[in-house]
Amino acid sequence: MTKKTFYVTTPIYYPNDIPHIGHAYTTIVADVIARWNQKILDKEVFFLTGTDEHGKKIEETAKRKGKKPKEFVDELVPKFKDAWKKLNINYSRFIRTTDKDHEEVVKKLLQKVYDKGDIYLGEYEGYYCTGCEAYYTEKDLVNTLKGTSGCCPIHKTKIEKLKEKSYFFKLSNYQKPLLELYKKNKGFLSPEFRSKEIINRVKDGLQDLSISRTSFNWGIQLPFDKKHISYVWFDALANYYTATRQKGKEKFWPADVHLVGKDISWFHCVIWPAILISAGIETPKKVFSHGWWTFDKEKISKSRGKVININELIGIAGVDSARYFLLRETPFGQDGDFSEKALIQRHNNELADKLGNLVSRVAGLIAPLGVPLRGARPLNIECFGKKNEIEKSENELIKKLDVKKIEKLFENYEFDKVLNEIFGFIDSCNEYVQNRKIWETKNKKDLYELKESILKIAELLLPFIPSSAEKIKKQFSATKIKKEEILFRKI
Ligand code: MSP
Repeated sequence: MTKKTFYVTTPIYYPNDIPHIGHAYTTIVADVIARWNQKILDKEVFFLTGTDEHGKKIEETAKRKGKKPKEFVDELVPKFKDAWKKLNINYSRFIRTTDKDHEEVVKKLLQKVYDKGDIYLGEYEGYYCTGCEAYYTEKDLVNTLKGTSGCCPIHKTKIEKLKEKSYFFKLSNYQKPLLELYKKNKGFLSPEFRSKEIINRVKDGLQDLSISRTSFNWGIQLPFDKKHISYVWFDALANYYTATRQKGKEKFWPADVHLVGKDISWFHCVIWPAILISAGIETPKKVFSHGWWTFDKEKISKSRGKVININELIGIAGVDSARYFLLRETPFGQDGDFSEKALIQRHNNELADKLGNLVSRVAGLIAPLGVPLRGARPLNIECFGKKNEIEKSENELIKKLDVKKIEKLFENYEFDKVLNEIFGFIDSCNEYVQNRKIWETKNKKDLYELKESILKIAELLLPFIPSSAEKIKKQFSATKIKKEEILFRKI
């Protein structure tokens, strides 16, 4: 039987600096979703991440460093790949917008939209923030505390005014099709509480979008007018589609979910589907916009030294604890605050005291028996998908694990609650040892039930904390269970 497919993406990051916690967050979540779909739901998964390498921002940063843009990004891309390796990210492809196949897809897409009659030549007069790579209207601009007027609402820097010939995409034609898409496909704008804002803005009316520039070079030329360079976002968004144009990968389109930060929702929820509809291509099934992390309650900012890079993140309590913390601390969708103290607390109180303790205690009780747990009632609870097995099982302990509920929570991307459920079950296991005084009784049936429960826990935690869960699985599926090294050393 052919497996169901599942396609998840992260934004492609600007390689103008090394990756930090904000980039790591989406990438870790994507990895958890990919592993869950692959290992637990048994789907064929495609997981895409990469870098967004064109545009004025990169061109300018490279120039400041005295480098050619390509040379500059070539030096930064390995830093992203290295970060993802350290965080145990198991992506299927790392796409770069300078990849040949991508440039071809962008050109084809531009041509399709042009042929449809949705692109016309005009003149852009207005504001552009290179830091955001985004257009602003007069009323979007803000004054800074120091009183400088006409600044970018995000960067608070003086914004440039442009007047140049430009091709426009008839975004204004797509108000109705977009509203229909949101209505028809309820999950498209996720989470729901963020959907209102988008819907209202679309209802307010859409302006045509300038999609080309002539005042810089670093980008993809428009196929129908080589003097013009594609707007970096038109180029960037297409990456998700590019990756599925390779042989054998077509089946992954449309994407099941694009994970994005809330700051880039508009591009993904409005511009991207409009381009696709214009080109006659199926739209993705979901765009999930997550919140932002602050660091010790302050905005993450390099200039104020408020950044956490990847080495710092994993240096605190290890890779699995960092992954666990980011998914457990805040509901996916909401903003969150990162602090070293909070991470250490969760590492100590949850991973070490609950999970680590259960694993080492039970292994310590089984190991001296020196034999496989023979004579115990065999249980058939191997497979997650077969929902009734757990209920049918006579195992008293494992019955406390509500697999259906966990599956449902995961489907809604409520990762914090998924982990809460699993850790609630870990508590039940620890209580089981305590209440039944298993260290005195050494009851084999009880120990067998604990062993099976721990294997189940490892299976469920595998997407979240892959290397620790793998160790637990190995330890408890051995014929002779031994006590192993401590999984989470307290800090
Ligand atoms: N290149 C574009 C995306 C193109 S996708 C077709 C871009 N790149 S970025 O490097 O600036 O940002 C990438 C992601 O990092 C965004 O989703 C953004 O929300 C996220 N984050 C940046 N800082 C963040 C936090 N402090 N917290 C959480 N996520 C944050 O935008």
